[in-house]
Amino acid sequence: MRENAVRYGQFSPDGKEFVIDNVATPTPWINYIYNDRYFSTISNNGGGISYVQNPLHGRITRYRINDVPPDRPGKYVYIKDEETGDFWSATWQPVGKNQKAYQAVHGFGYTRVSAEINGIFSEITYFVPVAQTQEIWHLVLTNRSNRPRSLSLFGYVEFCLGHALVDLINQADDQHFNRVVFDSRLNALFATKTYWITEGLSTQQQENKAWDQWAFFTVNHPVSAYETRRERFLGAYRNENAPEAVETGRLSSQDSDFGNAVGALKIDLTLPPGGRIPVLFRLGVIPKERFESDKQAAVQAFRTPEDAATALQAVTEKWERFFQHVRVNTPDADTNIFLNYWTPYQAKVAFDVGRVASFYYWGISRGFGFRDMAQDILAITISDVQKARERILLLARQMFRNGRVYHHFYRDGQGELTRHCDDSLWFILAVTEYIQETGDKALLQEEEPFADGGKGTLWDHLKAVVRYAEDNLGPHHLPIFGRGDWNDTLDYIGGEDEGESVWGGMFYVAMLNRLGELAHFVGETAFTREVERLRDRIQQNLNTVCWDGKWFIRAFGADGKKIGSKENRAGRIFLNTQSWAVIASVSEPEKLRQAMDSVRIHLDTDFGPKLCAPAFREIDPNIGLITRCVPGKKENGAVFCHATTWAILAECLLKRGDQAFAYYKKLLPNAVDSDQFRVEPYVYSQYITSNEHPTAGMASHSWQTGTAAWMYRVAIDYMLGVRPTYWGLRVDPVIPSDWQEFSVERVFRGARYRIRVHNPGGVESRVTRIQMDGQPVEGPVLPICSKAVCQVEVWLGQMRLE
Ligand code: NOJ
Repeated sequence: MRENAVRYGQFSPDGKEFVIDNVATPTPWINYIYNDRYFSTISNNGGGISYVQNPLHGRITRYRINDVPPDRPGKYVYIKDEETGDFWSATWQPVGKNQKAYQAVHGFGYTRVSAEINGIFSEITYFVPVAQTQEIWHLVLTNRSNRPRSLSLFGYVEFCLGHALVDLINQADDQHFNRVVFDSRLNALFATKTYWITEGLSTQQQENKAWDQWAFFTVNHPVSAYETRRERFLGAYRNENAPEAVETGRLSSQDSDFGNAVGALKIDLTLPPGGRIPVLFRLGVIPKERFESDKQAAVQAFRTPEDAATALQAVTEKWERFFQHVRVNTPDADTNIFLNYWTPYQAKVAFDVGRVASFYYWGISRGFGFRDMAQDILAITISDVQKARERILLLARQMFRNGRVYHHFYRDGQGELTRHCDDSLWFILAVTEYIQETGDKALLQEEEPFADGGKGTLWDHLKAVVRYAEDNLGPHHLPIFGRGDWNDTLDYIGGEDEGESVWGGMFYVAMLNRLGELAHFVGETAFTREVERLRDRIQQNLNTVCWDGKWFIRAFGADGKKIGSKENRAGRIFLNTQSWAVIASVSEPEKLRQAMDSVRIHLDTDFGPKLCAPAFREIDPNIGLITRCVPGKKENGAVFCHATTWAILAECLLKRGDQAFAYYKKLLPNAVDSDQFRVEPYVYSQYITSNEHPTAGMASHSWQTGTAAWMYRVAIDYMLGVRPTYWGLRVDPVIPSDWQEFSVERVFRGARYRIRVHNPGGVESRVTRIQMDGQPVEGPVLPICSKAVCQVEVWLGQMRLE
């Protein structure tokens, strides 16, 4: 890691934590703490939101979009010295004093912040237990001064209570429906809203129902006073930095049925010198239908530090089990930390959260993306096949009988239909990936309903996808662009309807290749032939009219005008049609190598290859949104990290390990100075601003990006070269030539493969010899290991093993 990144923080020596010792990070650096139903974000300074099930309909706490600072409000505990009246917070913000005293640590499923201020050491750990719909803020206070101390603590949250978008745009009316009450017997606040909108986004027509949850906020010490309205807690013309109620120590202890709903709980403590006291604040929800029967148990769970410690231990063990599926040991320390921990962690978070909650995705305007979710499957097929299977079935239910799918959907059956030409084809990726991993052909016989009625097996769904794509081909036998392909901002190629996507054609070929192979595996030979015929039809033009001399063009616009061509001034070359030409293998090897050489020559920067170049600087309504975007950012010529993973994959397929690894290293989130990069150095971002903008090197949209899942699998499957096939685990590394040895452990179909790769001759690829448990292996696919553990030795060299 370079010096400046170290100035804000660094990985712990074992790589399992990111330790931030300068908490004044350029942007909030966050973490996710969650289980299957309850989700919470938490920044290094205590900011973040909480929701149950989905962030649009189940929002528990409020997020004030684009507030200053940007992570307000959050999960705050104020600590007040009753002798002096001085107060601070357990996290640096919101009070914002004593910055240097704080240290924040993000780990897997928890975030811990500590500080010693005025002789009081505080350590607060935020996490969500594995099964309950609640979060725990486990605070431990130690009196390190030599006199007894009298302290008061104020736990504080700002509620949203239900529909986050309606709350945001209709707050003046919305506040008439909040209820916040204190139950002195249970020592807990309960809050809900008496109306709720779930179907559609209307603020004018409410459904005749209340939010289906009661939120609760409680603490394991007797509450001496409480507050339920933000106006009373913060005071007029103030914010969370210095709430009036904390300053005066006066809380109204009145319930509320009006106003901005908050939960504030005050407790009073005395601490002798050396004294230590644990305090457990907990925020959670109870379904309204079970409120009376469940509230006592919910509120009284995890009341002791031992309970909390056991619950945190379970969270840690859950993540450890997840990481155990793949272990790598390479000569590169950063690669080890990212591939063993932070990349699978991010990929799993993106899979579970579904790209709808971060400081870039506020969970109010879009549902779960079909193509995003299909790709996120890559994050978990190795570690949680059951979840992958459930996700595939969920995706199948978003499909119409004709193979069209919702572009975005919510889990409860609402969706948005758009005209992106690629969406449904990603289903093939998800299904084939899952079956390669598991061999579970039975999935194909599962029946799922179509979104417009009727039902079919997953084979029927796959066939519908092919038919839908086949019915959407233009004059060059390439997909009609519609309102976009993977690149959402190429949304008016050829105006309304006259464009064709060259990348879409390559993607189609790649997916048909996968499907043909699956059909072959399950013995559907007639279908394999059908798929191959269709593929050949599309492939033919890709390799002829789409070749521009040194690279492949990106699209055809109206009247066959080329986009992504040497004939253009802006957007002359696009990354995706070079990398996917290789992935789909649409051409002969020399052209494919030439295409990727063009990437290096025309697109590569200090931060990795750009998505296209030169960036568009004039609006072109026949191309679309990309041309309206500032040059060098987002799809308009930034390093779009998701797409860079495919460039790495392409270089691996071309067996150019040094180049693949060079791109891989440039993309590592800690490769750039943090003051330039700004966002978290432990997770990938959607894009890094390129050299076409003065803020080059600035990254944005961290966490919720397909980059993590793809980077993980490209690195493990193609760089380290251990990947699943229908017939077994294939070993085919493509590595930097200066790696002399590395090892990978990987669980596959119930057995653990311990694979050690030797590279005595310093080559980039070429397996010459494999042994499994001392026996020679013929070919690159390992036999299925019939024991718990198999030991595999692999040698690279000049002679290739075919
Ligand atoms: C973000 C979207 O979530 C993803 O689906 C899309 O492929 C990229 N933007 C590129 O436009």
